[in-house]
Amino acid sequence: MNDLRPWLEYLQEIGVRELAAPAPRAASRPVRAAAPAEPARSTAGRSRRAGRTDPARQRSHAGKPATTASPRNEAPSTALGNGADAELFAAFDGPPPEDRAAALQVLREELGECTRCKLHEGRSKIVFGVGDPCAGLMFVGEGPGADEDRRGEPFVGRAGKKLDEMIVAIGLSREQVYIANVVKCRPPQNRDPERDEIATCSPFLTRQIETIRPKVIVTLGSPATRLLLDTRVGITRLRGTWHQFRGIPVMPTFHPAYLLRAYTKENRRKVWEDLRAARSRLDS
Ligand code: URA
Repeated sequence: MNDLRPWLEYLQEIGVRELAAPAPRAASRPVRAAAPAEPARSTAGRSRRAGRTDPARQRSHAGKPATTASPRNEAPSTALGNGADAELFAAFDGPPPEDRAAALQVLREELGECTRCKLHEGRSKIVFGVGDPCAGLMFVGEGPGADEDRRGEPFVGRAGKKLDEMIVAIGLSREQVYIANVVKCRPPQNRDPERDEIATCSPFLTRQIETIRPKVIVTLGSPATRLLLDTRVGITRLRGTWHQFRGIPVMPTFHPAYLLRAYTKENRRKVWEDLRAARSRLDS
């Protein structure tokens, strides 16, 4: 029960007004925010993160979790990560591993049948994200394509098959990582997501990251890299070097769709090096 106090204080602080009655097991019921347009974090349910040994993650939740939530009704910024709140966020462990699956489910419900930006007009299915809610490694792509839009799952088309191969190459499976995108609805003709669309949708990505608290993030291509690193520098210069998003190590690499278009030995080698570095960091 003591574990719950900082979470309840934290939820209050970010404006959550209504809590479902707690189930007999601590923190196991969804928490609802009063205003769905500004996502608020919550805890619920229990599941288990496999193979996570980072001592930082074993910290208790006795300290007040750092907040990254912006004031209600304030337009979200596209710069998600490395501002003044970065240090606070870095000290925040996220919900206990056993609460993460349900917390993601609550977030999915908050997203609802989203009409917050114009991308909803052309989509078939929202592509929220998939994988282990307690994953140590998270991939962030750009936005759904036609196959993903049809199926409601990220990276299931040609680029997805390539990503699956990349994941297997570093000794993991798709089920052991978490995969999400910058925007959750397909941009028309697979164009890049626009600034307002990213600003509207990215708070949901932030909350996925906050909930999962992966040990390592791999950004796939420019839009994801620019968003998380808050930079205009191109992927060619950034890939292969470590950065961070609110204290989480980030390795940018080429998008698998780009790799398929420019399937050179050199590009394959670069992506392999980036993923190998991510795997080593994960194991460290
Ligand atoms: N490309 C992306 O960036 N994301 C997907 O989900 C599929 C293709």
